[in-house]
Amino acid sequence: MLTTRRKFVAVSAAAMTSSQFNHATGPGDTIRIGLIGPGGMGSNHLRALVARQDVQVSWICEVDKARLAQAAAEVGKTGREPKTTKDMRHVFGDKEVDAVLIATPDHWHTPAAILALDAGKHVYVEKPCSHNIREGKLLVEAAKRSGRVLQVGTQSRSAPHLQEAMAKLKGGAIGEVLCAKAWNSQKRGNIGKTKPAKPPENLDFEMWQGPAPRGPYRTNMLPSIWRWWKAYGCGDIGNDGVHELDIALWGLGVTTHPERIQGAGGKYFFEDDQQFADQMYCSFEWNPNGTPLKRKMLVYEQRDWSPYVQEGHENGNAWYGTKGMLVLGKASGWTLFGERNKKLAERSGKIDIKPHHDNFFEAIRGKAKANAPAEVGHLAATIAHLGNLSVALGRTLEFDAKAEKFSRDREADALVGRTYEPGHWAVPRG
Ligand SMILES: NC(=O)c1ccc[n+]([C@@H]2O[C@H](COP(=O)([O-])OP(=O)(O)OC[C@H]3O[C@@H](n4cnc5c(N)ncnc54)[C@H](O)[C@@H]3O)[C@@H](O)[C@H]2O)c1
Repeated sequence: MLTTRRKFVAVSAAAMTSSQFNHATGPGDTIRIGLIGPGGMGSNHLRALVARQDVQVSWICEVDKARLAQAAAEVGKTGREPKTTKDMRHVFGDKEVDAVLIATPDHWHTPAAILALDAGKHVYVEKPCSHNIREGKLLVEAAKRSGRVLQVGTQSRSAPHLQEAMAKLKGGAIGEVLCAKAWNSQKRGNIGKTKPAKPPENLDFEMWQGPAPRGPYRTNMLPSIWRWWKAYGCGDIGNDGVHELDIALWGLGVTTHPERIQGAGGKYFFEDDQQFADQMYCSFEWNPNGTPLKRKMLVYEQRDWSPYVQEGHENGNAWYGTKGMLVLGKASGWTLFGERNKKLAERSGKIDIKPHHDNFFEAIRGKAKANAPAEVGHLAATIAHLGNLSVALGRTLEFDAKAEKFSRDREADALVGRTYEPGHWAVPRG
């Protein structure tokens, strides 16, 4: 049965009080972490966490009984049994917990992260950090008011070879960076067409849906396929695309949302239940009415039906400056070109989650700043949401970047947020 907001207020009030007595996180202390959602990516996180000496996985929270047992057994191999639950409020209410790692589907990211921050926990939340623009804004506010560390799961931010490329761009290696490109071209699968069905026995589908409005279970929602359903995911632009978008923004050097968005695309290939475009071309402009050298543009390309890679890289980025360009493949490395395509520098490298975990734990210990804080995650996720909105509405959007609204476009403005399951304890307020 659904727990009401009133009941939750009591639970979270207890959590707030207990957070004042959070376990210390000095340089030599073990950080106690709760993992929420040990699914596909959550299991990757778990393997990396149990390999660490400075961290103890003290809770596993999972709404699928089989996955819960599997993850608990993984932690058990370290000789320390974790506590287990399907209700994340138990994790947030435990004063011994310092931090949580949230690897649930997207519709839970912001609601769970806000509850955790307000309960005094440090938070690592998977990308995209929000399911919609309004939630991202609320997350930024919650991170600020909590004073806790928030790290978004865009692990490229902690990759040394990417940091080096970004330093080159910032240092003027290609002159003024006026344009960036991010692409996501790969071959995805057809998810088929299904009818509502009974959820599997081992899954608490009520808890899985959480604050999202109640809808039917379908056999092509799990595992991981929920990302193509609007109630739970953000399409591939918010999935793999958001990594490239984040890297593009980083190199472009922008710290605000774009003001003009022009998206084109749709379902060009798949005839199935997917509710998002498999083909997208979107441009995002900063200062679109500005003077030369004061404007910037990001172009996003997505083809989810491509059995070949684009420009040498499955997923990649390019930055175009007034003196040269830099081309980067997330999984391979980057090359810097000067005028007339003269090769000036190159570096290979791969992206791994360990350095991003290291940075998160160092930030908790006060030895570093989070490389992907809420503001950074919110900017990248907002690009994904804006791209989806422009493609879905089929027209150019003018965004009030400061107010985070479509001030002159009611139809678009109604889509800045989402609808929730009425009265659910995890509905984010603000
Ligand atoms: N950073 C990366 O490179 C990367 C890569 C893949 C996925 N991801 C992100 O990781 C997240 C998970 O993706 P996935 O492919 O692993 O999906 P998944 O469906 O395999 O895993 C999600 C897990 O969360 C569980 N869950 C759902 N609601 C829950 C709740 N209320 N409490 C506890 N557990 C709950 C599900 O049962 C499932 O096991 C997504 O947001 C995705 O974008 C990130």
